[in-house]
Amino acid sequence: MKDLQIKKLIDAEKKRQKSVINLIASENYCSADSLEALGSVFDNKYAEGYPGARYYGGNQVVDQLELLAQERAIKLFGLDKGEHVEKFSDKNPHKSKWHVNVQPWSGANANLAVYLGLAPIGSKIMGMALTSGGHLSHAQKVSITGKVWEPVTYIVDPETEVLDYDYVEELAKSEKPAIIVAGFTAYPREVDWKRFRKIADEAGALLMVDMSHLAGLIAGKAYPSPFPYADVVTTTTHKTLRGPRGAMIFSRIDSRELYKKIDKAVFPGLQGGPHESQIAGIAVALKEATDAKFKSYAKQVIKNAKVLASELQKRGWHVVADGTDSHMVLVDTWMNGEKVSEIAARSIKHGEMALGAGGIPGKVAELELEKAGIICNKNTVPGEKRSPFDPSGIRLGTPAETTRGKKEADFKKIAEKIDKVLKGIKI
Ligand SMILES: Cc1ncc(COP(=O)(O)O)c(C=O)c1O
Repeated sequence: MKDLQIKKLIDAEKKRQKSVINLIASENYCSADSLEALGSVFDNKYAEGYPGARYYGGNQVVDQLELLAQERAIKLFGLDKGEHVEKFSDKNPHKSKWHVNVQPWSGANANLAVYLGLAPIGSKIMGMALTSGGHLSHAQKVSITGKVWEPVTYIVDPETEVLDYDYVEELAKSEKPAIIVAGFTAYPREVDWKRFRKIADEAGALLMVDMSHLAGLIAGKAYPSPFPYADVVTTTTHKTLRGPRGAMIFSRIDSRELYKKIDKAVFPGLQGGPHESQIAGIAVALKEATDAKFKSYAKQVIKNAKVLASELQKRGWHVVADGTDSHMVLVDTWMNGEKVSEIAARSIKHGEMALGAGGIPGKVAELELEKAGIICNKNTVPGEKRSPFDPSGIRLGTPAETTRGKKEADFKKIAEKIDKVLKGIKI
């Protein structure tokens, strides 16, 4: 590369990534092949529209690429066999019973496109509160999704910190949202997709599952699939799925023609030209995820997270929802049982708060861990009493380090290190 300033920054970031333990639950390392596709000549091409119906010439190769990416996505999640289908569309090039749009630039855009396509402006969208693990794009007030549509917000049970489906059902039946969103950004336990289907049916709502965090685990058959139950499934491609940054929207092909409305919402509704190089990188990752090795990877991600959770619990930390069924462990560092006073004393050293007020704020925990070479993010916890900028906990994830080959014994050591760092014990 001739631009030495940028080259220097790339090298510095490469070095940083290699030198840390990466526990950011939403990050991963996509393959060299995916990165090669991402940096390919496909980036030079404008391709507004969809395969066979573009607004620019010269898209013969791009059409093949996009169709291949769609075919791989449909196959990876077992949708070429299809279930619960009313009508089979002849127009679908792959004869699948689900359609997939591979053009959304990122996860938030994908969710916005679904609402734009399927929920009348001003209608209700029901999503999980940020503090319980929902994402900003699930109709939170600070996001456009919560300004253009009316948010209906559900929370987890404050005692158990897991979903209370009876309460969600009551709320849905009384509010009658156009769309119910399930699938979260900080919820570690298994989600009962079937129950969400029943809730949506009783409320007369569409069920949208945002499986962004879980896509790789679902593809690897390590976590239950939402496809038999959802009307629409959105996902990012860069978390557990281990592709480059991007997103996809799956929708059923039936008489409601949801997929046509979603396609129109993505383009021309929200986006211009698709990033075809990104689609090429995603297509590579989708093929990689069909490999048997990816199944073992997905299972290992969960095994590692379970070890991380239980080792932290053994050391007195409050693990939200009492553990994990996924790749994610949420730790309430502010309220952590027996070690509170010891940790509070340490917080004072950081000038954060008065003794006895609680444990470690998530922000301090994130900073302290980073100094010790462990990267994670501060996170709100159920019933958050602090603020999203200075929340009570941290979110830890195992996908990135599992990609680097770490197993249960390694995560036991990582838990020990986290414990020592947060308690101020010399390592
Ligand atoms: C559940 C969920 N949906 C959507 C998104 C948004 O994805 P992006 O950052 O690609 O817009 C995220 C990001 O973390 C997420 O966790």
